[in-house]
Amino acid sequence: MNLLILATLFSVVLAEKSPRLKFNVMESPRFRFMKPENFTAVYHQQETDVLYVGGQGVIYKLSFSDKEVHDTQQECDNFITVIEKVGDSIVVCGTRAGSPKCWLLVNDSVLTDMPAETLASNILAPFPSQRSISLSADGNLYSALSTVAGQTGSIRRTYGSKKQLKTENKWLQNPQFAGAAVIPHQEKLKDEIYFFFSEVNSTANLDEEPYRARIGRVCMVDEGGLQNVLPNSWTTFLKARVMCGKAGTPVQYNNFKQAFVLTSHLRTGLLYGLFSNAWNTTVVCAYSIEDIDKAFNTSKLKGYNAPLTSPRPGTCAFRNNTQAHNQKILNVIKDHPEIEDMITTVDETPLELPVHDHFTHIVADTVLAVNEEHYSIIYLGTEKGKVLKVLHAIEGAFIIAQYSLFHDDSPIINMAIDSKKSHLYIGTELEVQRLPLADCGRYGVSCRECILSRDPYCAWDMSKRKCTAIPANYNISTGTLIQTLDHSSASVCGDATAHKARSTIPKQVLVDKDGPVLLPCPVRSYHATYRWEKDNCIKQYPCTISGSSCVLAPTPDLPLKEGVFRCLAEENGLQQEVVSYKLVFNGGPLSTSLASTLGSAVLLAAAAHWLL
Ligand SMILES: *[C@@H]1O[C@H](CO)[C@@H](O)[C@H](O)[C@H]1NC(C)=O
Ligand SMILES: *[C@@H]1O[C@H](CO)[C@@H](O)[C@H](O)[C@H]1NC(C)=O
Ligand SMILES: *[C@@H]1O[C@H](CO)[C@@H](O)[C@H](O)[C@H]1NC(C)=O
Ligand SMILES: *[C@@H]1O[C@H](CO)[C@@H](O)[C@H](O)[C@H]1NC(C)=O
Ligand SMILES: *[C@@H]1O[C@H](CO)[C@@H](O)[C@H](O)[C@H]1NC(C)=O
Ligand SMILES: *[C@@H]1O[C@H](CO)[C@@H](O)[C@H](O)[C@H]1NC(C)=O
Ligand SMILES: *[C@@H]1O[C@H](CO)[C@@H](O)[C@H](O)[C@H]1NC(C)=O
Repeated sequence: MNLLILATLFSVVLAEKSPRLKFNVMESPRFRFMKPENFTAVYHQQETDVLYVGGQGVIYKLSFSDKEVHDTQQECDNFITVIEKVGDSIVVCGTRAGSPKCWLLVNDSVLTDMPAETLASNILAPFPSQRSISLSADGNLYSALSTVAGQTGSIRRTYGSKKQLKTENKWLQNPQFAGAAVIPHQEKLKDEIYFFFSEVNSTANLDEEPYRARIGRVCMVDEGGLQNVLPNSWTTFLKARVMCGKAGTPVQYNNFKQAFVLTSHLRTGLLYGLFSNAWNTTVVCAYSIEDIDKAFNTSKLKGYNAPLTSPRPGTCAFRNNTQAHNQKILNVIKDHPEIEDMITTVDETPLELPVHDHFTHIVADTVLAVNEEHYSIIYLGTEKGKVLKVLHAIEGAFIIAQYSLFHDDSPIINMAIDSKKSHLYIGTELEVQRLPLADCGRYGVSCRECILSRDPYCAWDMSKRKCTAIPANYNISTGTLIQTLDHSSASVCGDATAHKARSTIPKQVLVDKDGPVLLPCPVRSYHATYRWEKDNCIKQYPCTISGSSCVLAPTPDLPLKEGVFRCLAEENGLQQEVVSYKLVFNGGPLSTSLASTLGSAVLLAAAAHWLL
């Protein structure tokens, strides 16, 4: 009992909601721009090694397979803020000193004019700081323009084979767009596009929250209304309020910053939204696509009390169907764009993530794990140039790792994910880097380290004795992989690896009796508890974390004595010895030559960054 209390007192217990591991990755393939590119648009086609980046007066084509950069130069007042592949063409748009223009990029180098009916000012905002969203689907380009001083925002179909359509001005109140996604359906005719945005009430009182987070949706088959009602407008547009915050509390995050949708053809899946509040704190909320779909299918329309006729407003249908021809329905749609039901999160609260990190970007992936279930992984870019890899499990968020990827700590301004090729692209204003999604070699060489990582891409291969990515054709009944994701438990590795105490050979350290001594113990898992034991538990010392190691530092109450010190890490009930030292005072019984290489001066200097 006494021992237990001592252990607790002297251990550094870190909060669960910190990244478990911290990696510095400076070696992965990267490109560096010649000048800072503050406003970039990126386009990545799945299953290629190519990333197109739009900058100021330039379009870069970064090819990661052969480390090649191809650039197409432009006049320098032209910020390229849109790059989208529509059908077989790449559409490129730039701000061109406040009068936007679009081109088709041919053969990766030639810019040709767009068809005359394409209006660039409907596709992008005239200034690079004003966010516009582009989405290419089925050979058509969809564009959402945030409000700019003097201009109302809009959601439009702007280019392609289908009729160009727009939102009515009164449907959107100063929208600031955060993203868009195609929501596919088993029946193609019911495919929809969701737009994510915030509306701003510019006449709200100072003590009122001016922002409201929204989802708006349109049907892809929409061809507009009749000559006298909504002739060039969507006839299927509906919007809903999105809540992000702890249910039943006034603490809400209403400013929708970024969105990422994980979906399948079954119209299941998740929407991950990045939100902020008035104090600029960022959080992530998760929503079920099914819940959203259901709300749009069943809710009353705001301000409309008569019973709704069938088909309901917002139902996807071809133009020859009765709905588009029914003037009465069109008039209901025209005046009642909002549903009453609010969209709430699946977890009733934002994901538990480090509160001091300011997130700038989010992407996500679904991973088929060894147990043949799907798990969601979220990647978050931060203001300080870091990337967090987060498992969104049933019991909440588990932060697998934090990656430091850039020499300067500039904010992450772009991310793109390729689930098929298993790559994550990350950009700052100066650099673009690529990381593998299944980065299993980084977790270490033991079963315990592999399992405790809780990374769904990785499993311990019992036959090859190695932490490995799950192969695409993996067969659970014949395979030799083990993994536990729903909770941290390395017991699957068996007892032999679990209780490997007294496993390191003490390094002999020669120090002055009264001089300063700091013995470093490298920290790998920030979810583990570290402590020092002297001479087989007779005495315990705290291990204080500083950077990537924790150090044994004597205090007046706990003066250092000669003897063997072992640094022990404990995580999920399993203990592991990390390092051990045999401390010998100057003039004492020095036995090996090792001591001379590890003098106290060296130890002091290296204490903070020494990884063994
Ligand atoms: C773009 O980045 C450069 C370098 O950091 C900076 O000097 C410049 O002010 C930035 N421009 C804008 C518009 O933020
Ligand atoms: C693009 O490349 C093809 C094949 O090399 C060539 O025939 C065509 O003229 C090129 N187009 C332009 C606009 O340069
Ligand atoms: C905006 O705020 C004002 C002041 O509270 C309020 O009267 C008005 O109804 C709000 N507008 C909307 C669209 O909510
Ligand atoms: C919120 O934080 C972002 C990123 O740090 C910063 O660019 C922005 O100016 C901040 N906004 C406010 C209102 O403080
Ligand atoms: C909503 O309505 C669509 C079209 O009628 C239907 O296919 C879908 O299953 C419905 N979704 C839910 C969750 O009820
Ligand atoms: C409506 O038109 C679409 C193609 O425009 C066609 O496939 C469909 O069969 C038509 N439906 C009816 C009920 O006529
Ligand atoms: C997995 O292996 C078992 C045993 O060899 C075999 O019966 C089964 O068909 C395999 N499953 C798949 C999906 O290949």
